[in-house]
Amino acid sequence: MNVLFESKNGTGYLTINRPDKLNALNIDTINELKETFLKVEQDKTIKCVIVTGSGEKAFVAGADIEYMQKLTPNEALKFARLGQETLHLMEVSNKPYIACVNGYALGGGFEVALSCDIIFAQVNAKFGFPEVSLGILPGFGGTQNLSRLAGKLIAKELIFSAKMIDAAKAKELGIVNEIYQTREELLSAAKELAVQIQKNAPLAVGFAKRAIVDGFGLSKEDGLRYEASLFGVVFSSVDAKEGLSAFVEKRKPNYTGG
Ligand code: CAA
Repeated sequence: MNVLFESKNGTGYLTINRPDKLNALNIDTINELKETFLKVEQDKTIKCVIVTGSGEKAFVAGADIEYMQKLTPNEALKFARLGQETLHLMEVSNKPYIACVNGYALGGGFEVALSCDIIFAQVNAKFGFPEVSLGILPGFGGTQNLSRLAGKLIAKELIFSAKMIDAAKAKELGIVNEIYQTREELLSAAKELAVQIQKNAPLAVGFAKRAIVDGFGLSKEDGLRYEASLFGVVFSSVDAKEGLSAFVEKRKPNYTGG
């Protein structure tokens, strides 16, 4: 199995698992990732997902170079589309995804992290897009997602130079939320955040994700209209009634996800 997945107390734990190849994304791994994301969507008990890599050295060291070496231009296009569509499943999901970057996050690995909603990094994390040094370019959304997250200047510098940056630099550039010393601290912080997210109304969290993710590409005016429309829709939910009543009645809300 190239992707391990288990769910416990409402949190899904997804581990990309090819440690001998630094968790590089070959076609089987991408297909297993896709299946896992689709399974997460079906499972109403899962409210939040933590994504990490197996082993001590890498989150994901990119798309599998040995596999790509044999691709024709048309196959490469299809490979990029499959990778993009797979990672996009995290962005279109209403469930928050938290990346725990435990080492190298290069090329396709950086792209996995950029498709998550929150990025936590271990102090040994290294981020970069080495693609142009291989004669290719990022193909799983990196050019689009890094420029949207960090701005075009930063994206151009990192992508054109193929240089790696450490966790501290990535945090300074707004690519990383928090840095942790050890893998245990990294995973436990992610778990704690997942628990905190799960205390809230799932529909409201999901709509807030839609407003931020989908609203980002819109003009400010359209984004505000979109936010207001979701604000209106959420008022028809059971959990909105529960949350507002609980505050007024000075008690803890009991959210059911409705
Ligand atoms: N694809 C295939 N195999 C990879 C790999 C990758 N992206 N990254 C590492 N591996 C393999 C190595 O070939 C090696 O396998 P063997 O033991 O069978 O030889 C094993 O993982 C361990 O790697 P190293 O011995 O190289 O480990 P290191 O500690 O010396 O170096 C590293 C670590 C700097 C990350 C180095 O492995 C490296 O540069 N990897 C490639 C990184 C890269 O260029 N990623 C971008 C890929 S392109 C892409 O992702 C396109 C896209 O956007 C879709």
